[in-house]
Amino acid sequence: MKKQVIVSGMRPTGKLHLGHYLGVIQNWVELQDKYDCYFFAADWHALTTKYDKTEDLRQNTLDVVMDWLACGLDPEKCVIYVQSLIPEIAELNIYLGMITPQNWVERDPCLKDMAKILKTKEGQGSQINYGLMGYPVLMSADIMMFNSDYIPVGIDQVAHIEITRDIARRFNNLYGEFFHEAKPLLNNCSLICGLDGNKMGKSFNNDIKISDTAEETSKKVMTAITDRSRLRKDDLGHPDECEVAFKYWKIFGTEEEVQTVRHECEKGLRGCAQCKRCLGDKINEKLAPIREKRKYYEQNPQEVEKILNEGSAKARIKAQEVLKEVRKLVKMY
Ligand code: TRP
Ligand code: SF4
Repeated sequence: MKKQVIVSGMRPTGKLHLGHYLGVIQNWVELQDKYDCYFFAADWHALTTKYDKTEDLRQNTLDVVMDWLACGLDPEKCVIYVQSLIPEIAELNIYLGMITPQNWVERDPCLKDMAKILKTKEGQGSQINYGLMGYPVLMSADIMMFNSDYIPVGIDQVAHIEITRDIARRFNNLYGEFFHEAKPLLNNCSLICGLDGNKMGKSFNNDIKISDTAEETSKKVMTAITDRSRLRKDDLGHPDECEVAFKYWKIFGTEEEVQTVRHECEKGLRGCAQCKRCLGDKINEKLAPIREKRKYYEQNPQEVEKILNEGSAKARIKAQEVLKEVRKLVKMY
């Protein structure tokens, strides 16, 4: 039986952090065994807000893909490509744009959030451009290009998948039943918080990068928030109020280790500094094989480029099949 199709992408914003790894990439790695998977760097989507700062785009694309490969995405099992290397997506975007009512894109909650952010800027960069308005249409083209069934995304992207479903339905009504109505598969985006207890994010300066060295990681872990009521190391601790460090233990430690940490903390037998030193070692131990793999790709970027070129070529073959059918249905010349 033919496998169902999954598509997902990320805007290439640079090196990824543990939130991406645990919440998104780990999930992708599991999916690649069960589905026909297409994973891509959404460099056109990056342009919607960063069109005036493109000098890092290429390196950022390589960086996210190196992180994916290091975490276990396997080009033998899934197709890994760059959005802008598939011009068929741009053509599909045109057809979908024609059938998308203006108020569907204006309703997009992400656009409203972005409008608020942009308003705080000055001059040229403060306006919403046509491309940004079209964000959900382009995303629909990404998804429909491979006639996908499921889209693994975070909760913040579900509104976009809804628009995609609406556009697919509208296309099918206008031109004939062809596209599947893709369903979201929710990622666990909040699996790990930042070192300060807020959402982990690159711009909040509270993240641990997949590509950080063991030393950098240990140093960062020492800054993690603990039980704020604890002043001396023999004060009795409250692991459940230890805002970050104990939560990390629960993610990276074995059940037994977590029990030991809890016990020693509650009895005042373990100081927070010592606890976080151990935690840093634990995290480093888990990440060591991933980092080793990443280092390999950093030293062999031509291999990453080869993977992207071959993946993009593969993706184009499927995209061309779909586009041929679409042109026929729309009755283009
Ligand atoms: N908008 C997504 C994000 O910011 C990235 C993306 C672009 C995407 N096209 C997609 C995700 C298609 C899934 C499917 O996270
Ligand atoms: Fe948190 Fe460990 Fe300190 Fe307890 S000892 S409060 S678990 S960092």
